[in-house]
Amino acid sequence: MASSQAVKITWLGHATVLVETAKGTTLLIDPFIENNPKYPKGFALPEKIDYILLTHGHGDHISDAAPVAAKHGSTVVAIHELAGFVAGQGVEKTIGMNLGGTVHLGDVAATMVEAKHSAGAQDGEGTHYVGIAAGYVLTLDGGPVIYAAGDTAVFGDMRLIGELYQPEIALLPIGGHYTMGPKEAAIAAQFVGVKTVLPLHFGTFPPLTGTPAQLAELLGSSVKVADWKPGDALLCDDDTFTFSPRRD
Ligand code: NI
Ligand code: MN
Repeated sequence: MASSQAVKITWLGHATVLVETAKGTTLLIDPFIENNPKYPKGFALPEKIDYILLTHGHGDHISDAAPVAAKHGSTVVAIHELAGFVAGQGVEKTIGMNLGGTVHLGDVAATMVEAKHSAGAQDGEGTHYVGIAAGYVLTLDGGPVIYAAGDTAVFGDMRLIGELYQPEIALLPIGGHYTMGPKEAAIAAQFVGVKTVLPLHFGTFPPLTGTPAQLAELLGSSVKVADWKPGDALLCDDDTFTFSPRRD
C-alpha cells in the first residue's frame, strides 16, 4: 500500500464491523446497534457511511440498516431479495446482488460468496424470505483482501474462496450455537489461508460461548487471532497489521 493512511477495521460488537479504507470509503457490515448489548458505549459512527453491507436477514444483522442508511446517507448492499426487503423499509439506495458477483464500491471490490446459514427476516407480519445467507470478500485497492464470512458453518468450499481471492484477513464467527465455534473456525481459517483472524459473533448473548483464546490455541502461533473488545480496531498499513485499542 503506497498510501500513508492506514485501512481501519473496527469491531462494534457482535457481528457489526466498520471498514474505513485508505481513500476514505466507509463500509458498515451488519449494523446491529440499538439492541446490541455489546455496542461500544458512546461510539460515534462517521458522519458519512458510504455503504452498508448485509450478510443475511436476521435481526442481529439488519435491525439498524434502515435508520443508519437514512442518517448517514448510505447505499445498502445485499443479496437481491434482502435488498428489496430493506427498500420496503424505506432505504432509498440499494444494490442487490448475488453469489459469485462483484460490485465496485469506491476503492473496494465486494464479491458475494457462499455461507451456510438460514436467512429469514422477521417483522410484525411474520418471517419473510429474503434470499440466502452470504459472506463477502472485500478486495481493497492497495490491499488488504478481507473475507467477511457472515454467519456460517465451516464448509469445504472455503478452500475455493481462499484459492480465488487469497484473503489475508478473515472476519469469522466463533461463538457457536447459531454459527461455527472455535473448532470449526480454526479449520475455516486454514481453508481460506489467512494469517489474521478477527473473531465475531461471540459473547453477545449467553449461548455464544466460543472465545478468541480457544481459537488461538487451536491455530497455534502461525495465525494471529485478535483478542479484541468492541470498539477496538485493526490498522493495516502496507503489510503491517497493528491492533489499536478503542480511543475515547
Ligand atoms: Ni444469523
Ligand atoms: Mn447472527
